[in-house]
Amino acid sequence: MHDKTSGNEESEARVVEIEGVSLHLSRHTVADQEWIGQIEVLRQLQACWMVIAEEDFSLSPRIVGSPGIGKTTLAMAAARERGQELFIYQCTSDTRPEDLLITPVLAESGKIAYHASPLVTAMMRGGVCVLDEGNRMSEKSWASLAPLLDHRRYVESIVAGITVKAHPNFRCCVTMNEDASTYEVPDYILSRLQPTLALEFPNKKDELAILQYHLPFAPNEMLALTVEFLQEAHDLDLEYSPRDGIHILQFALKRLAQDPEHPLTQDEAWRESLTKVLGDDALDLKGLAHRRRKALGDEPPPLDFGDIFFGGDNPLHPGRDD
Ligand SMILES: Nc1ncnc2c1ncn2[C@@H]1O[C@H](COP(=O)(O)OP(=O)(O)OP(=O)(O)O)[C@@H](O)[C@H]1O
Ligand SMILES: [Mg+2]
Repeated sequence: MHDKTSGNEESEARVVEIEGVSLHLSRHTVADQEWIGQIEVLRQLQACWMVIAEEDFSLSPRIVGSPGIGKTTLAMAAARERGQELFIYQCTSDTRPEDLLITPVLAESGKIAYHASPLVTAMMRGGVCVLDEGNRMSEKSWASLAPLLDHRRYVESIVAGITVKAHPNFRCCVTMNEDASTYEVPDYILSRLQPTLALEFPNKKDELAILQYHLPFAPNEMLALTVEFLQEAHDLDLEYSPRDGIHILQFALKRLAQDPEHPLTQDEAWRESLTKVLGDDALDLKGLAHRRRKALGDEPPPLDFGDIFFGGDNPLHPGRDD
């Protein structure tokens, strides 16, 4: 394997030859975000990527948690800490094995050009690949990764007719949403995506730091309102995330900046933004949590008059069916 082109790495697509086939490599993503709080889970991810003996190889963990909780950000921050190039592959329900590995493209010359996916590029360059939202991908695509995710550490591209071996520095992780999975990831793949690193919602101090980091120009009162709201939602097991908080603040601040002649009050702008981002339900978190629990069957139905006077089992109960 050798580089055919040199020069400006950032602006030129690179072409690498492997087993006589020229592969056009993908570009890496710039990871410049900090990870705030939950330091233990970042250390756990770093431990997965350590190689501690000659016979050892790195682990490819699953990062799980609800939407917007910071899974992708965590993986990006870990790659940045290691100082490695980062490649993100966005998995979807129609990702085909060739999309994940090597795709043939008709070049201007009329010849076929082979394009290496972000995953295969990371394997060749010794970078980090984040398979983002992995549980959206079908079993067929996952199957092509089985040898990569165990000690064999290679993939076979049927389309290009080549085997690509992973560089020793190649590292991988997969993010998965706990809900909204389009496909069940098969067990033989899950058993290779170990360990599972679960992200929790941030505590109050960390959540404030996250919002401040992303929106350093937001006034303290609005930051405080948003953190209070998010913390109450987390306590009630409602899935509102730091990302929702960032969006609420962004829209409210834009509305405040819009008309300096007739300014909205901060409170008005914040409440308006809350309903536009999360819907009217978000104005009453306790009511929403109650309805959710009821819909999930976690809460006993409320007592009616019959229950109060006769008790549930009493034969005189008007609601009893015999
Ligand atoms: N601990 C954190 N430190 C810094 N930023 C964070 C943190 N947690 C969340 N964020 C911010 O919240 C937003 C959502 O994070 P991210 O996109 O990583 O979530 P996700 O779990 O990958 O969501 P999805 O399931 O929708 O892919 C981003 O703007 C991210 O920067
Ligand atoms: Mg994500």
